Amino acid sequence: MSKGWKKSDWRVKPRVQMPDYPDLSAVQAVEAQLAKMPPLVFAGETRKLKRTLGEVAEGRAFLLQGGDCAESFSEFSADNIRDTFKVILQMAIVLTWGAKLPVVKIGRVAGQFAKPRSAPMETIGGIELPSYRGDIINGFDFTADARVPDPARMLQAYTQAAASLNLLRAFSTGGFADMHRVQSWISGFTDEDEAKKYREVATRIQDAMDFMAAAGVTSDTVHAMATVDFYTSHEALLLEYEEALCRIDSTTGLPVAGSGHMIWIGDRTRQPDGAHVEFARGVQNPVGLKCGPSMTTDDLKILLNKLNPDNEAGRLTLIARFGAGKVGDHLPRLIRTVEEEGAKVVWTCDPMHGNTIKAASGYKTRPFESVLREVHEFFAVHKAEGTIPGGVHFEMTGKDVTECTGGVRAVTDEDLSDRYHTACDPRLNASQSLELAFLVAEELQGRRAMQKAAGM
Ligand code: PEP
Ligand code: CO
Repeated sequence: MSKGWKKSDWRVKPRVQMPDYPDLSAVQAVEAQLAKMPPLVFAGETRKLKRTLGEVAEGRAFLLQGGDCAESFSEFSADNIRDTFKVILQMAIVLTWGAKLPVVKIGRVAGQFAKPRSAPMETIGGIELPSYRGDIINGFDFTADARVPDPARMLQAYTQAAASLNLLRAFSTGGFADMHRVQSWISGFTDEDEAKKYREVATRIQDAMDFMAAAGVTSDTVHAMATVDFYTSHEALLLEYEEALCRIDSTTGLPVAGSGHMIWIGDRTRQPDGAHVEFARGVQNPVGLKCGPSMTTDDLKILLNKLNPDNEAGRLTLIARFGAGKVGDHLPRLIRTVEEEGAKVVWTCDPMHGNTIKAASGYKTRPFESVLREVHEFFAVHKAEGTIPGGVHFEMTGKDVTECTGGVRAVTDEDLSDRYHTACDPRLNASQSLELAFLVAEELQGRRAMQKAAGM
């Protein structure tokens, strides 16, 4: 957070992946309207999240971040929000059991509407149109009209984000997130034949809960059993929207992104002198930075200094996304750079974005085995380097979709067309997400043994 920074400074920097709106006065009218709206989050919440992520950076908590690749206007429903929230809670309990540490829960939700694309144009049947860039920018339908960037979509995104956050806040504190309920859903999953290999863990979690209940620790007596802290996050790609929701925090006098608790910078928009880094460096929220194979150690050094000049633990989360088989080529050099700089960061693993392939059927998919393999490699590299694997970052949904292949209830290439609903990248379904949590919990038991041995 630098002195003299202004929320509009990004406008004079080179920008990539942002739309060219045809009608600038319409954009300005929307910006003026958004600037009058209440922020979606309170600055104190972002500071609390930053403190909690500071605990993750020090190895005293674990981060679970997950949700849609892209939220969409058409898939917006209370049921979808509830189901994703429900799976995140189940995953968090399994991870808490594995890590024996608190799990910080952050959704890719209530703002995850803008998408960077690898190609600016899309061609179908000889017709070429601008690519779909997320519902906050243009429409998914393959028509010339739908693909024109429309600033009014920012208002609809804001409204959807506000309604989503409202429901999530209600679920978090209104009884839905009661740990006993969540634990009973996990048992339901492991009672099924395909998932029986996870039953032993589920039984042990249940035993722990039964013991606590017998000792008088229930949601009636202990508030923490009945409620959860749940945070929102998204890629801060559409800077007109971010600037319009940026506010001055009355408590500290510092700027805060009011669009969500945590924002991140994508792998395609992290140019050290670019518009996206310029915006993120000035707000006090926790910030994520995607690190793919093209991240150089020189750029990482500059970015560590720009994004976290005060070296605050919890301010910066590095989201590693290299692809299975490539983690060993890149993560060690980046970890060493961070260590040499003495930078305090959270290291988390996004095993989704480096593992997207095209199935024979033509669908974009991600094999569950590749996702899992990248997670294994991430933990193994941290173990070898003596550093802390702080969390995981998934694209997932609570619905029974068929977008990623594999998992205990094996989704095959042929199944992909059955329930392929994503507006962008393929997501893990409810069962694959929970299965992954069980597998990460095993890794976490290893991490725990390592930390104990190191006296941490
Ligand atoms: C994403 O998280 O949806 C995304 C586009 O990621 P990345 O910037 O890592 O490609
Ligand atoms: Co994605």
